[in-house]
Amino acid sequence: MENMKTKRIIGLMSGTSCDSIDAGLCEVTPDLKVKLIKGINHPYPDKIRDMIFKAFRGEINIKELCQLNFAIGHCFADAANILIKEFGKPDLISSHGQTVYHYPYDETLDGIKIKSTLQIGENSVISHDTDCVVVSNFREKDIANNGQGAPLVCFADSIWFKNSLVQNIGGISNVTVVSDDCETFGFDNACGNIMIDYCMNKFFNKKYDKDGEIAKLGTVSDAWLNELLSDEYYYKKPPKTTGREYFNKEYIEKFLQTAPKKKEDIIVTLTCLTAKSIALSYERFIYPVTKPEKVIIGGGGAYNKTMMNMLKSFLPDDIKLFSHEDFGISNNFKEVMAFALLGYCYLYNIPNNVPSCTGADKKVVLGKMVAD
Ligand SMILES: Nc1ncnc2c1ncn2[C@@H]1O[C@H](COP(=O)(O)OP(=O)(O)O)[C@@H](O)[C@H]1O
Ligand SMILES: [Mg+2]
Repeated sequence: MENMKTKRIIGLMSGTSCDSIDAGLCEVTPDLKVKLIKGINHPYPDKIRDMIFKAFRGEINIKELCQLNFAIGHCFADAANILIKEFGKPDLISSHGQTVYHYPYDETLDGIKIKSTLQIGENSVISHDTDCVVVSNFREKDIANNGQGAPLVCFADSIWFKNSLVQNIGGISNVTVVSDDCETFGFDNACGNIMIDYCMNKFFNKKYDKDGEIAKLGTVSDAWLNELLSDEYYYKKPPKTTGREYFNKEYIEKFLQTAPKKKEDIIVTLTCLTAKSIALSYERFIYPVTKPEKVIIGGGGAYNKTMMNMLKSFLPDDIKLFSHEDFGISNNFKEVMAFALLGYCYLYNIPNNVPSCTGADKKVVLGKMVAD
């Protein structure tokens, strides 16, 4: 495309784990490569974070949801302003927002489609507080075009990688298949860290199992693992996406009724579930189409050593396991880099969804802009 220029873009993201607002100042070049200049993890204030978790569980009312949309906008702006203070105003802020509900199912009410998604963190507020142009709300247009609105990071993966499985392990785990043998496709494998985090909070009063140290102390219960793996999601064919709406408190509590007694055994079995469900999804849905050379892991799960050792043991010997860091891309800030790229594409009217990943009818330009 003519006249495309390198742009400095701050990507903003908070995932399903809700562990922090990730903000990254990036340089995006016309060849659609992204260089991270600096990334920060900016925590949500405690009461806001609590309210987000209540929102996930449907425990807030519509007034509180309305307030939360603006509050998260301010929090996202605070994260961006830390970078702006150090590096000056960027050309654009590209914000994923905070998903509070994702409902990519083909259901109707009075014959009207109710397939939908909701990311909040009002971009008018971000724009006001930072004095920047903001692009956000990327998922809606994909759903409007009959896609699932996810996974969106596939777009970046298809540009940045070759012949690889690009595996993210956040709250949810999702993979992009980039191969010379087929069109790029991707799907959510299943739950990534949500169940581990939930049980770490419940049994150990910790936010997560740092480096997989607690899991290391337990023994996997094969019986419980098989019970967990009998869930229908693992068998569902892609395109498929999931979220907290599915792997919710009731879901986890139901399975906890038959869990092993020792708390460490619960954590290690859930850790094994994530690794095993990823390996199984490759066997069921990817190897029949293409045999990748390597798997490149990103997201917080990449830091869980116990999970990584398990995953390695479940993969065929000829597939090598790497982290994003091995390719010069931060595990922690990969998603903000991907959203910086989506924002850049919005600016230049470049379609930035991958229909073979989301199931959308066609390629479209995702995003909504608020001027400064
Ligand atoms: N050092 C670590 N050891 C083990 N798990 C980690 C570590 N750091 C992060 N995680 C896990 O990763 C999650 C956050 O991953 P992230 O990629 O940010 O997910 P999301 O996109 O859902 O926010 C945390 O909730 C935690 O479960
Ligand atoms: Mg996160």
